[in-house]
Amino acid sequence: MRKMIAAMLSLVMLGSLAACGTKKGTEKKDGSGKKTVGIAMPSAKLERWNSDGDYLRSLFEKDGYEVKLIYSDNDSTRQNNDILGMLNEGVDLLLIAAVDSSTLTKSLEEAKAKEIPVVAYDRLIMNTNAVTYYISFDNSEVGRMQGEFVRDALDLENAKGPFNIEFISGDSADNNARFFFDGAYEALKKYINSGKLVSPSGKTTFEKTATKDWSTENAKTEMTRRLSAYFSGAKLDAVLCANDSTALGVEEAIEESYKLKNVPVITGQDGDNENLKKLVDGKQSMTVFKNVRDEASVAFEVSKRLLNDEVPTGKLVESLAVDVKYDSESYNNGVKYVQSYLLVPTVITKDNLQIMVNTGLYQWDAENKYIESVNKQ
Ligand code: BGC
Repeated sequence: MRKMIAAMLSLVMLGSLAACGTKKGTEKKDGSGKKTVGIAMPSAKLERWNSDGDYLRSLFEKDGYEVKLIYSDNDSTRQNNDILGMLNEGVDLLLIAAVDSSTLTKSLEEAKAKEIPVVAYDRLIMNTNAVTYYISFDNSEVGRMQGEFVRDALDLENAKGPFNIEFISGDSADNNARFFFDGAYEALKKYINSGKLVSPSGKTTFEKTATKDWSTENAKTEMTRRLSAYFSGAKLDAVLCANDSTALGVEEAIEESYKLKNVPVITGQDGDNENLKKLVDGKQSMTVFKNVRDEASVAFEVSKRLLNDEVPTGKLVESLAVDVKYDSESYNNGVKYVQSYLLVPTVITKDNLQIMVNTGLYQWDAENKYIESVNKQ
């Protein structure tokens, strides 16, 4: 009898050991046997995430994967629940552009328990060891490009000044936003310290200039407030906007409330359709173009290897057709340095729009005046 119980016990133990080795996510409810990738994007309201989602979906589907793609309306609680839902239905890998870099604890714990690899897409996910890789653009470089553009446009090295500048930064819940600000500030610090560049609102820290949800409306409200409080009579020379959605808000505020007629230098990022028109019309000075099709393709290559139980390393960049560098020292998420693949951004002005057209993702309109993304037409 004792022998029988011992034999039964060891069978039970063997069974549970085998269960430990099985990734629960691979149990397919539809019985297709295809691997499934869960893609979580922050919001369908901001132009770029629609492109990211579309490119990612098509890359994985073309290669025979199932795709679950969700947008969570910039709501971090909802995104956490949406990801839990995908894990429950069964996914083999998660690709996440987080709404809030630090509030995905529950879903990431669940992913870890199920041994599902998590790749942080564009935005690093903080304070977790569930994240295995990070794919993004060099975020500090984006900020540096914006800061240096302002420096050169105002000729800060030679001109006497002082010049007035305002900063409108990104959402503080997005880990990228601080990198953008720091990169830009670093390029302008010298002139701020010497008094050549002055911020009449006194808002020169990331915390004081952050914009909730990166929203156009919030940026407009804030800029309108600053214009009426600090610029009745004072000249506004530049607004360092972290991206195109915030730049749009600033441009609307200036159009409606700024009574001095000079056009300030305004920066942006992403190359959103509306902002590309503003470049041509002289209402925005530059944008930083980040080719999201390339970003999606790197995320796809890294994910594919993880799905095949391979370990992507720095060597992977050699086989990629895009300009990308491997970096294991810059992005610490509070728990570890996350292995990162960082793509290279490009400064775009009204004079070099052809660079974007050459990617095949944008085209000139009938009058050869404006450009717009191809899939939006
Ligand atoms: C992205 C930017 C984007 C911003 C708002 C950031 O995390 O890197 O490209 O403009 O989010 O969506």
